[in-house]
Amino acid sequence: MPRGKSSFICRECGHASPGWLGRCPECGSWNTIVEEITKPSAGPSRAGAVAVAAPAPIRLVDVDAGAHSRIDTTLGELNRVLGGGLVAGGVVLLGGEPGVGKSTLLLQALLGMERAGVPTLLVSGEESAPQVKLRSRRLGGEASELRLLTETQTEVVVACLENLRPAVCVVDSVQTLWSAEISSAPGSVAQIREATGQLLRVAKSKGLALLLVGHVTKDGELAGPRVLEHMVDAVLSFEGERAQPFRILRAVKNRFGSTNEVGVFQMAESGLEEVPDPSSVFMEEGELRSGSAVVPVLEGSRCLLAEVQALVAPSSLAMPQRVARGVDRNRLAMIVAVLSRRARIPLPKCDIFVNVAGGLVIEDPAADLAVALAIASAWQDGPTGKGVAGFGEISLTGKVRYVMQGEKRIQELTRRGFQKVLLPARNGEEYRASGGILSGLTLVAVTDIGEAVKNRSG
Ligand SMILES: Nc1ncnc2c1ncn2[C@@H]1O[C@H](COP(=O)(O)OP(=O)(O)OP(=O)(O)O)[C@@H](O)[C@H]1O
Ligand SMILES: [Mg+2]
Repeated sequence: MPRGKSSFICRECGHASPGWLGRCPECGSWNTIVEEITKPSAGPSRAGAVAVAAPAPIRLVDVDAGAHSRIDTTLGELNRVLGGGLVAGGVVLLGGEPGVGKSTLLLQALLGMERAGVPTLLVSGEESAPQVKLRSRRLGGEASELRLLTETQTEVVVACLENLRPAVCVVDSVQTLWSAEISSAPGSVAQIREATGQLLRVAKSKGLALLLVGHVTKDGELAGPRVLEHMVDAVLSFEGERAQPFRILRAVKNRFGSTNEVGVFQMAESGLEEVPDPSSVFMEEGELRSGSAVVPVLEGSRCLLAEVQALVAPSSLAMPQRVARGVDRNRLAMIVAVLSRRARIPLPKCDIFVNVAGGLVIEDPAADLAVALAIASAWQDGPTGKGVAGFGEISLTGKVRYVMQGEKRIQELTRRGFQKVLLPARNGEEYRASGGILSGLTLVAVTDIGEAVKNRSG
């Protein structure tokens, strides 16, 4: 095949230059020039004179959707996030920080599928065969028939896939692949895009379910181009703190299912264990101390109980510290300001540290009230009452606002034996009107943050 001609194009304005430049001479943007390949066309053609046969479109009614039956990955939590399993011809990108357990998760799934009789292939560009063998030993699958290819050239991987025709293939990682067509180094935007493009074509044409591992940059973005996210069918993100055993698998995008579901795993000696009932795994054991508050947060269709912890200490700094782990820093600043102004707690001269136990990252705005309760509890040095939880969004005026799916949150607290919950008035009314069971749980409706702080103790 003739080698393509490479040129360098600015992603912002489309300016073409013969070599790579740090700054586009046309629009002045930095780091926007990427390598592109123009493949010479096969036959003689003149612009506007390409002869093509008119295609016959097929009717939707005639399309066989059965071809898209799901492949069970043997990991229930992974199936849940994928929307019921892998889809033949579907391409999934799995991103995550170094060491979070991406290779472990996918090797575990491959070993399971191989055991279940699904033909699989692992393409490892990052680890040698003995390294993979060592990991499989840890996962209890060293005697597996799983086929392994340690290769980084895209064309060779494609040739192997076309020849071997596995049903599922994992490429670990897409950043190590390189193509002879492109002169940029492996890991560059052009290389990653070319590799993904080539693999995508094989996957779609041969009905192969493809899983690509992608690294994440320091900013939490998938390394290289975001364009990869548009090319693939699903983007999963594997999150968790390395020091903590829990890992959350989330779908950022999914063409074949909801992006609402999360999977929860626990990293153990023998690999990743599934946590099918993760409701209280993120809570610390024992009684709640001063400075903590419990909140039921929604992760997909499940409700987890999270523990927010706060520490408030007089500051000697001109700009007191605000440290947030597991909650958004700007959200924390807002809650602190509202507590100072609307609940008359003098926090401006205090250092404030907030942490969510178990390494969980909360995006649910319903956690606002728990953050405020934890800070109030830390400042007053009195624990939030035993068996007390709270949820609700806090507005700048100090009002505690209605949140979605209050019913599910209340049900979870009831199931876990909580005695009291502070919640937005409308959520309480809604639950009572629906005739929900409370069995020992008292609903305390709070309209503003001052009222919530007063009602905090058990
Ligand atoms: N024996 C063990 N017991 C418990 N956990 C382990 C053990 N061995 C490895 N781990 C965990 O597995 C993690 C490494 O997993 P893995 O190699 O799958 O991560 P990765 O996301 O593929 O990383 P990379 O981006 O470097 O390829 C370690 O950080 C550690 O937490
Ligand atoms: Mg890895």
